[in-house]
Order: sequence, then C-alpha cells, then structure tokens
Amino acid sequence: MTKIMKINPVNPNKKLLNLAAEVIKKGGLVVFPTETVYGLGADAFNPEAVLKIFKVKNRPADNPLIIHISNFKQFEELIDLEKEKSNLAKLISEKLWPGPITLVVKKSGKVPSEVTGGLDTVAIRFPAHPVANLLIELSKTPIAAPSANLSGKPSPTDAKHIIDDLKGFVDIIIDSGRSIFGIESTIIDISTAVPRLLRPGPISLERLKILIPELEVPDLKSFRRPLAPGMKYRHYSPESYMVLFECKTEDKMVERVKNYLNKKNNKCIILLTTEETINLYPENSDKFKKISLGSRRKLYEVAHNLFDTIIKADSLKPDEIVVEGFREIGLGFSIMNRLFKAAHRIIKEDDEF
Ligand code: TXA
Ligand code: MG
Repeated sequence: MTKIMKINPVNPNKKLLNLAAEVIKKGGLVVFPTETVYGLGADAFNPEAVLKIFKVKNRPADNPLIIHISNFKQFEELIDLEKEKSNLAKLISEKLWPGPITLVVKKSGKVPSEVTGGLDTVAIRFPAHPVANLLIELSKTPIAAPSANLSGKPSPTDAKHIIDDLKGFVDIIIDSGRSIFGIESTIIDISTAVPRLLRPGPISLERLKILIPELEVPDLKSFRRPLAPGMKYRHYSPESYMVLFECKTEDKMVERVKNYLNKKNNKCIILLTTEETINLYPENSDKFKKISLGSRRKLYEVAHNLFDTIIKADSLKPDEIVVEGFREIGLGFSIMNRLFKAAHRIIKEDDEF
C-alpha cells in the first residue's frame, strides 16, 4: 500500500513528515519533493533499503545515487577529508548550498558501496526545499535518492507524473505540487585533479566559471544520444518519436520547423515558445497541436515546464513531438542537454529533411 501525502511546500506539516521519517528509519521508500525534481529516497546508510531503490526504478546497479543532506555535519561524515585536499568542497558547498548543485567527492568509509555503484566517490547534495530538508532532519540520516522516474523516463516535476508508475511499489509519495527549477541539479566532480562538469543544471555554467575558473567542461556533443551510440543509458525519453531542431537563430529555426511540418501528414505536437513566432505555425487542428514551453526570454520558465510538457505531449500519443531548440548559453545549455538526450532525431541548421 502506498500512502499519498499532501504536504505544503513552504510550511510543511511536521507531524505528517514524521510519519515519512519513520518509514525512512525503518528502511522504507519515500518519494519526496526537492527544488529540482522529485526524488525516490531511502536511508543512505541502509544498504538493503538502497537496493530497493534500484529495483523499483529498474536502475542498473552501477549507476550511483546522490546522497541528500540537511546540514554540513553530514557532509563531513560522507566525504573523505584526508583525500579531499582541495578547498573546492568547502568553497562550493558554502557558496551554493543549500541549492541545486551536486558535488562528487572522495567518499568516506561510512558510505555503503551500494549507493555509489562500487565507486570510491560519492555524489552529495544539500537541497533547498523545506520538505526535503525537514524530512532528512527528522529521519536523522542522509537520504540516498535518484530522480523518482522509472529508469529512462523523464524526471518527475510533479507528484502526478509518478503516482501511476510507483503506486504499490513505494511506501509514501509526498505531493507538494510542482518543482521550482524543473531540471535536475548541476553536477560537478571535484574528486579529480581538475574539477569537471558532469551534468549542466539550474546553476549556469557561466556562474560556475566565476567560482571555479579551472572547471573543465566536456564537449556537450558527447552527451548526445545519436552521436554516442555507446552511451550506456537512455534518458528522459518519451514513448513518442521526438525531433529536436537545433539552429543558430530563432528566425531560421521557426522557418525550418514550419517547412518540416508542411511536409508532414501525421499527427504532430509542436513544443514551442510563446514569442510572436507562435503565429507562424499552422493553427491547432486534428493534425497539429501547439504546446508552449514558456518564453524564450525567460529560460527559467522553459526549464520549469520542460519535463511536464514532454510528459503531457507524450500522453496525447502523437506520431511525433517536434521541439524548438535553444541557444546553448546560460540555462539554454542545460535545457538543450536534456533535449539532446531525449530526442530520437536532431535536425541541425543545414540538415536535409
Ligand atoms: O536534482 C537532482 O540531482 C535530483 C534530485 C532528486 O536531487 N536527483 C537526480 O538523481 O537527478 P539521478 O540519480 O537521477 O541523477 C544523478 C546522476 C546520475 O547520472 C549518476 O550517474 C550521477 O549523478 N552520479 C551519482 N554518483 C556519482 C559519482 N560518484 N560519480 C559520478 N557520477 C555520479
Ligand atoms: Mg535521473
């Protein structure tokens, strides 16, 4: 039996959250909100409970989890301070925590290998969400949690995205409404000689570079599924065939998407932005449906809506979902990272279609 608990995201009910904390303490599974996406949590120090997460998500055992903390003392407990000599852990954690950023560091002996997929490093995050914070505090233990989607599916930014998939498989689902950022945390690996960005997220690269000028940023292209057939795990994929347009200028892109749609005779959903260009596309009809991701000038709005919109479009079972791309600067870099991974086909500026 799964209990669904509605909890106010700003002023959480402590009595209710105590019930969830008891479940964590007893080795159960609790879906909880964070400021990025929902997490599927268990006591990070209980290997059996952690293994349940992998089973429910159908997640490969070698794909490690993030440990969520609610104070800096827990950080000291999880990190190997002997091996973590650089002052980066202190600098970044003090500047950006609590917040949507995850640090990969050398792990202490206390971290079970089940959490880290056998690695000698551990990913740690101090979320900025009152419900997550209070749940961890009341559980009196750090909570290991991946995003609460089934493996390969889009990350849940609303409890309603996962109730169908997880009902009956977890003990509690906490419903605190929509996640604020809507894309998962930025991940930086500081366990290596040169710190490296592992996943772009809500904290923009530009901002990180000010804090860590030496930050190494792997080529985003290596994140692209079609260009990396060897990439181990599928991500964020809707069931429907998804086509992403990558273009240097907005005008050119809209023109190309329009031409693409003109050639189509199947049922298409267009994920677009609410600028004036929306009027250049065909009207909504049996064949076409336009769904807005938000404004191109407010990328935080697009990030907030991204997975929700993809899930919504997918539930309408179109033949194709056609998505407008974004310039890869600021949050646009993180948004495109998710879209590259989700899309079945990427159409570039000069590609024929
Ligand atoms: O915003 C978020 O980060 C959300 C919320 C729930 O906190 N969590 C999340 O977890 O996105 P997950 O498991 O979906 O993504 C974590 C990523 C995975 O790609 C995993 O491979 C990577 O972090 N990761 C975890 N531990 C790692 C480690 N020690 N070294 C390298 N990568 C690691
Ligand atoms: Mg995930």
